Amino acid sequence: MSQLKTISILDNIPSSTQSKSKPEKLSYYTHRCRSNFPFAIPISKFSLSCILFLSLLLFYTFKSPSSPPRRSLAVDWGGAAWERRVRSSARVRSRPGHSVLVTGAAGFVGMHVSIALKRRGDGVLGLDNFNGYYDQTLKRARQGMLERTGVFVVEGDINDKELLKKLFDVVSFTHVLHLAAQAGVRYAIQNPSSYVHSNIAGFVNLLEVCKSANPQPAIVWASSSSVYGLNSKLPFSEKDRTDNPASLYAATKKAGEEIAHTYNHIYGLSITGLRFFTVYGPWGRPDMAYYFFTKDILNRRPITIFEAPGHGSVARDFTFIDDVVKGCIAALDTAKKSTGSGGKKKGPAQLRIYNLGNTSPVPVSDLVSILEKHLKVKAIRKVQPMPRNGDVRFTHANISLAQKELGYKPTTDLEAGLKKFVRWYLSYYPDAKKKSAWDFEVLDCIS
Ligand SMILES: NC(=O)c1ccc[n+]([C@@H]2O[C@H](COP(=O)([O-])OP(=O)(O)OC[C@H]3O[C@@H](n4cnc5c(N)ncnc54)[C@H](O)[C@@H]3O)[C@@H](O)[C@H]2O)c1
Repeated sequence: MSQLKTISILDNIPSSTQSKSKPEKLSYYTHRCRSNFPFAIPISKFSLSCILFLSLLLFYTFKSPSSPPRRSLAVDWGGAAWERRVRSSARVRSRPGHSVLVTGAAGFVGMHVSIALKRRGDGVLGLDNFNGYYDQTLKRARQGMLERTGVFVVEGDINDKELLKKLFDVVSFTHVLHLAAQAGVRYAIQNPSSYVHSNIAGFVNLLEVCKSANPQPAIVWASSSSVYGLNSKLPFSEKDRTDNPASLYAATKKAGEEIAHTYNHIYGLSITGLRFFTVYGPWGRPDMAYYFFTKDILNRRPITIFEAPGHGSVARDFTFIDDVVKGCIAALDTAKKSTGSGGKKKGPAQLRIYNLGNTSPVPVSDLVSILEKHLKVKAIRKVQPMPRNGDVRFTHANISLAQKELGYKPTTDLEAGLKKFVRWYLSYYPDAKKKSAWDFEVLDCIS
């Protein structure tokens, strides 16, 4: 802590542009000193020079690459041991491989992709701020899974420029898989600024650091099917318009796509956006319907199923996590190098956008029936008209572009995927198992 204090004081050393006023300032302070403390020893020019020299020496010592732990955005990082962990986690184990910075690594998709990359020999470093949007113990449990696979998750915010720069100083990342975001549609009504903080400001901050890095990494990032907003033309294709978002979440993801275009155009960053369609599976997100329905069904609590006007069903193109992982890895593998270096563009760079869906929308009421079957518990259903809270009625992906260019081919249907989810859920929450009629061995749910 004392070191941290020293740094913050040393950080306030006047810059060279202020140096002209230094003698005046110093004589003012020595004068004040003398008048308040008549017995104070007079400070000679020589001792002043010594103090200044020592201060500068300390300043540059702490600024050196192997700096001691630092505090920014309220999180400690830095120091030789920390740097060793960062380097080791990001080291490629089998060639040819990528060295990937995964933001949002303690999140649902982040954990799965990080583990898959690490297992095939890529270097992976995680970054996550472990925010409290949903159960933080679940994020910590995912972190535990990552650590057991050899992935170090740095605790920090993508808005922390100093931290990001430090990570790029320590590792020459070939790729960034950017998944950190404020997810969820309905939460925007409660906390709109969290979407601006993570999905816009944080993304710009990350791109700023990436564009200045040398070499610049290729970036793959998560957009969302929600950018299709109120579109009624189905299935959703990448060629369709995306200028009528139905939620703030969707608007920030759409803004992200435009921001990506700008950084690609000006700085030559290679950027691939992936529009995920309702991803589900083991280690999923507790704010998503399939997850909290499971909890409520097991607790014999009523679940609310929304219906569209005229008793129309609400349906989603549910996509199993393993399929999305394959899509992310294919996007990383096919990403071309960025063309700029140190903030200067040297030529046109790759800019791509793909739908990663399942191509077969399922009504939410059918999802509940599948859960009932796997949990062996009857749900108490409450059907209500859909409120205007940002949710859309229908999502359906056209995945022909991802199929053609990434070799993306989803293989898990909702029945099989939910079976895997339920198995994981009952093993992760031991109390839940007692409430269902299931009886099976606890399995490793990362397939
Ligand atoms: N899961 C889906 O169905 C789905 C659908 C469409 C798009 N997406 C997008 O995919 C990505 C991953 O989604 P997920 O389901 O894994 O969500 P998640 O919430 O589980 O993961 C996001 C992670 O990012 C972290 N994070 C958030 N803001 C951060 C910040 N400012 N700095 C550092 N870390 C931060 C969170 O702590 C969290 O662990 C997100 O960008 C999301 O918007 C997900």
